[in-house]
Formats: sequence, C-alpha cells, structure tokens
Amino acid sequence: MSKKIVVLISGSGTNLQALIDAERQGQLGGNIALVVSNKKNAYGLARAAEASIPASVKTLKEYKDAGKSREDFDRDLAELIDEKQRPDLVVLAGFMHILSPAFFSRFGGRIINLHPALPGELDGAHAIDRAYSEFLAGKRTKTGVMVHFVIPEVDKGQPILTQDVPCVQGDSLEDLENRIHAVEHQILPKAVKLVLDENIYAKAI
Ligand code: GAR
Repeated sequence: MSKKIVVLISGSGTNLQALIDAERQGQLGGNIALVVSNKKNAYGLARAAEASIPASVKTLKEYKDAGKSREDFDRDLAELIDEKQRPDLVVLAGFMHILSPAFFSRFGGRIINLHPALPGELDGAHAIDRAYSEFLAGKRTKTGVMVHFVIPEVDKGQPILTQDVPCVQGDSLEDLENRIHAVEHQILPKAVKLVLDENIYAKAI
C-alpha cells in the first residue's frame, strides 16, 4: 500500500507543488493524502484543490479568539491529521508555526521540516533575509537549504539532506531567494522519498 504523506503549509506552497509534481512522476515514495494550512488565504490551498488533494484549514487565531491555548491548537491539529489519515510522514513545507510537545507526542520521529539555511545557521524566521544581509556585510559567501527531522528546538534536529547555495556578487535579495527556492524544490521531494523508501525515522524525541 502506498505510504501516506500529510503536508503542512502556510503560504504560497511552491514546495507543496514540487511534492505534487514529484508524486505525479512517481518520484515521491508515497501519496499526499492531506494538506493542512494554518492560514486561510494560503495559495497552496489552491494548488491542493487543483491536484484534487483534500485540504483543511486550522488557524491559531480561531483558538485564541475562543480563549484556547496554543497547546489546544497543536493537540487538535494532530488529532485532525491522525483521524483523517494515519500518515507515515508529516512534512512541514513552509509551515510557519512552532509546534509544541502536544503535536510531537502523536507523530514523534515522523515529522520533517524544510528550512532555507544550513544546519546550525540562521534558525527561525527570515533566514534568507538574514543570509542576504550577512552577505552584503561581507560575512558570508554561501548559505543553503536543509531538510531535517523535527525536534522541539526550532530548526534543529538531525539533517536528512542539505545543499549549499552560493551568494553571488551582484545578487539582489530576489536573486538569492530564487536560487534557494530552486534548490528547495529539488531536495524536499528527494528527502521525502529517502525517508519513506529507507524507512528512516528520527529516534524518539
Ligand atoms: C520556503 O522557503 C521554506 O524553506 C520556508 O518557507 C518557504 C515556503 O515557501 N520555511 C521556513 O522558513 C521555515 N523555518 P513555499 O510556501 O513557496 O513552499
């Protein structure tokens, strides 16, 4: 039976699109069974619809407005995913929400994240902007991309695949972003296939 993948997104979903395209070409090692967005207007939802993939939206704002906690949100998000699909792998593809143990307890070891930086560098949000500023300041000549297992520390966890991305003299921020995104679209589907084909999951978190 095909392995089930759930993809979590927050925005444009170009990486979700790379996963959809890889699946169509038989290069993903599994089937995207569900997409969940924590933003109502994420364009990735349209990509899921176009590919006939079921999608759900769950926003932290709804929870805050109802006086509920972040842990409540994470627990319910995990339940939604597990009830609808029992995924072999949860992929954070531009999911801009820091997950708490309430989520990990359900999927520990089976969650991977894409981050636009190399291991140990530029953890957290706006990694590309910060890499570009450091490049302009003469402090770096390259940055990179990684796919890693998710642990409670943000953007830490065992790397699965990494790739350097050069910063080139004369680059605009947009040039660097485009170069990084092109690499992301290559390595995210490869990392998913590697984890699923080789059955490698992170040790207990
Ligand atoms: C990607 O660049 C991804 O690496 C980044 O969000 C973007 C999502 O793009 N993720 C993070 O910064 C996580 N720390 P997309 O919506 O077009 O796939």
